Amino acid sequence: MTVDTTNKTKVVLTKGSSSAEIFLFGATLTSWIVGGKELIFLSRKAKLDGTKAIRGGVPIVFPQFGTVEDSSLPQHGFARNSFWTWLGIISDTADEVQVKFGLNQSNIDPQLGKLWEHTKDFELQLTVTLNDNKKTLAMKINVQNTGNNDNFKFTALLHTYFKINDITKVEIFGLKNSMYHDKVLKKSGLLEGNEALKIDKETDRVYSLNENSIGFNFNEGKIVIKKFGFSDVVVWNPWIEKARSMADFDDEEYKEMVCVEVGAVSKSVSVSSTNSFEAVQEL
Ligand code: BG6
Repeated sequence: MTVDTTNKTKVVLTKGSSSAEIFLFGATLTSWIVGGKELIFLSRKAKLDGTKAIRGGVPIVFPQFGTVEDSSLPQHGFARNSFWTWLGIISDTADEVQVKFGLNQSNIDPQLGKLWEHTKDFELQLTVTLNDNKKTLAMKINVQNTGNNDNFKFTALLHTYFKINDITKVEIFGLKNSMYHDKVLKKSGLLEGNEALKIDKETDRVYSLNENSIGFNFNEGKIVIKKFGFSDVVVWNPWIEKARSMADFDDEEYKEMVCVEVGAVSKSVSVSSTNSFEAVQEL
C-alpha cells in the first residue's frame, strides 16, 4: 500500500525504498527513510499524543515564528499544536506519491485561535511529495487569505530536524556572505564569513538568504536543501545547557540533530484578499 491511513494518528507513505510518516497533529512529518536510512530526527522523549508540539520531525511554524512582543500567540504559533485535516492523495505514480493536509479555523482550539486576528480568514495547506526515483522529499505550504482584509500578515517556517550521528562533523554550506540575526547573542546585522559553518556551541541564527540552495555535510553523507519562495534559513542546535532544560529532549540528543529551517520569518509575508502565498522546501 502506497498510502496507509489505517493508523488514525498518522499517514504513512511508501514508494520503493523511500518512506515517510506524517502525524495529523501539526501535520508534522516525523520520518523520511531513503534506502533504509532515517534522515529525520525525532527525540526519544517527543510527545506524540497531541499534548505538546512534536520535538523533532518537521513541525510547521505558522502564523508566527518565535515569540513577538505585541502578540500573545505562543512561540511558533498554533499550526504545530493543532490536528490538521487529511485532504487525501493528490497523485500516485510509479515513482512518486503526493498527499495533502489542511488547516483552517475549524482545526484550531478557540482559545488559541482568538490570539490571531486572521484566524477566521486563512486556509493553510501542506503538500508532501515523496519521490523514490529522485530520492527527494518536497514540502509545499500554501497560505490563502480567504477574507476581504488586505492587511493579512504572517510568518511561517518548516522547522526541519535532521538526524546526524555527530554534531562535531556537521558543516553547513551556502551561508557565506549572508546577513544574520544571532538569537543567542541578541545581535542583528551580522555577516557570515564562514564557507562552512560548524556547530560547537548553542546556535540560534536567522539568516536572510537569497540563494535557493544550502547544503550540509555530516558524517554519513550530504544533504542539499532547496528552497523556493522562502527568504530565510534558521540554524538551531540547543547544545548542552538548553538540552538539559528541555523536558521532551534527552540531555545528549543535541549531538544527534541539527535544525536547518527554511522560512519567511525576518519580515512578515503580506497576502491581499483572496490571494495566496506558496513556498517549497525540497530535500
Ligand atoms: C528555533 C528557534 O526555530 O526553534 C529557537 O530559532 C527555538 O529560538 C527553537 O529555541 C525551538 O523552539 P521550541 O519552541 O520548539 O522549543
